[in-house]
Amino acid sequence: MRTQIVIVGSGPSGLLLGQLLAKAGIDTIILEQKSKDYVLGRIRAGVLEQGTVALLEEAGAAERLHREGLVHEGTEIAFDGMRHRIDFKALTGKTVTVYVQTEVTRDLMEARAAIGASTWYEALSVSLHDVDGRRPRVRFGANGETHEIECDYIAGCDGFHGVSRRTLPEDRISAYERVYPFGWLGVLVDKPPISDELIYVNHERGFALCSMRSKSRSRYYLQCRSDEHIEDWPDDKFWEELTRRLDPETARNLQPGASIEKSIAPLLSFVAEPMRFGNLFLAGDSAHIVPPTGAKGLNLAASDVGYLSAALIDRYKRGSTAGLEAYADRALARVWKAVRFSWWMTQMLHRFPEASGFDRKVRAAELKYLLGSKAAQTSLAENYVGLPY
Ligand code: FAD
Ligand code: PHB
Repeated sequence: MRTQIVIVGSGPSGLLLGQLLAKAGIDTIILEQKSKDYVLGRIRAGVLEQGTVALLEEAGAAERLHREGLVHEGTEIAFDGMRHRIDFKALTGKTVTVYVQTEVTRDLMEARAAIGASTWYEALSVSLHDVDGRRPRVRFGANGETHEIECDYIAGCDGFHGVSRRTLPEDRISAYERVYPFGWLGVLVDKPPISDELIYVNHERGFALCSMRSKSRSRYYLQCRSDEHIEDWPDDKFWEELTRRLDPETARNLQPGASIEKSIAPLLSFVAEPMRFGNLFLAGDSAHIVPPTGAKGLNLAASDVGYLSAALIDRYKRGSTAGLEAYADRALARVWKAVRFSWWMTQMLHRFPEASGFDRKVRAAELKYLLGSKAAQTSLAENYVGLPY
């Protein structure tokens, strides 16, 4: 087979890239190791920046998002038994949209199916060849046979555990990492959200987050130990612990119910540099991971794809490779700012087991400063709604 661009991975970054390129008449093949249903069943992120929404519009996959997404003009931070609102709209003129990643994926898959672009699900043992040479190729197994695709470029959109980053020679890649000493226990429940906006809770027993998927479905998280298992957390225990971390008035609005999904996610910051090696370009989680506290993972995948699609379109429509040359530096500059913001939100809002009395006092002072300073709130707001591309 032959195509212009092979995209490895059909998560949000691979699918969005495929759609933006298709709109410009550029041919792609997507290779995904899992089944379509598996990809659609993964429960993940929920908050979209305006820039992400704009790219989904450009990709022709934002119609349902505009109908069903919930526009949020602010968020709340709970600390010392009080809730404080950060007004994104007043501070930055921008908003965010709550629309779940599963639905973003579904809309992009449907848009791809509508144009008849090629996707191989359950592609086995994907391997990349000659990525820095003249004949980049991707090999994979399907239907009991081995297939090979020749292409101009390869987009590694295959997430943190994918094959693309691992194809780079070890001595050509620098990895920067921080593992946090806790995880997030998430529960999804078919009950209305506790409040109209998200509530990020700093509490001496640990962080909590009250989020939502729709007006009738809520998503809650509790900071938990990294070594805990979901079997240790029956629903009753989860609701009891969440109630203890909320102020009494908020807790009164909580509508517990039977969980329809429950999972534990480790918290990690990770960046691999560079994001380009020859004709291979990494985008999204394949190059970087952030802890979810800043709601940035999916949005960073989208901004990478924004830069990469523009660079590839320039290459095919105007014959200029300047955008491709600049891709890694431009993407990484934005990535590191989001890594910093996600780290900052995480260290400010969580309880660290090794924290000294001094550390705790400084953290409390930081929260009090934030909640009393318009300048500090503007800084949080402009990062949360998304820095410009
Ligand atoms: P992915 O969504 O990981 O997609 C990569 C795709 O590549 C997958 O479909 C995978 O099956 C496929 N693939 C992998 N290896 C291969 C291979 N060898 N060959 C072919 N295909 C392959 N972000 C937030 O902002 N908020 C959250 O609450 C949040 N929660 C998260 C919870 C979890 C458990 C995880 C893992 C992530 C979470 N994120 C969250 C991050 C967010 O979901 C990701 O940043 C986003 O999915 C990145 O999109 P992606 O397309 O780059 O990668
Ligand atoms: C979510 O709804 O899953 C969510 C929202 C905001 C975050 C993280 C996760 O910061």
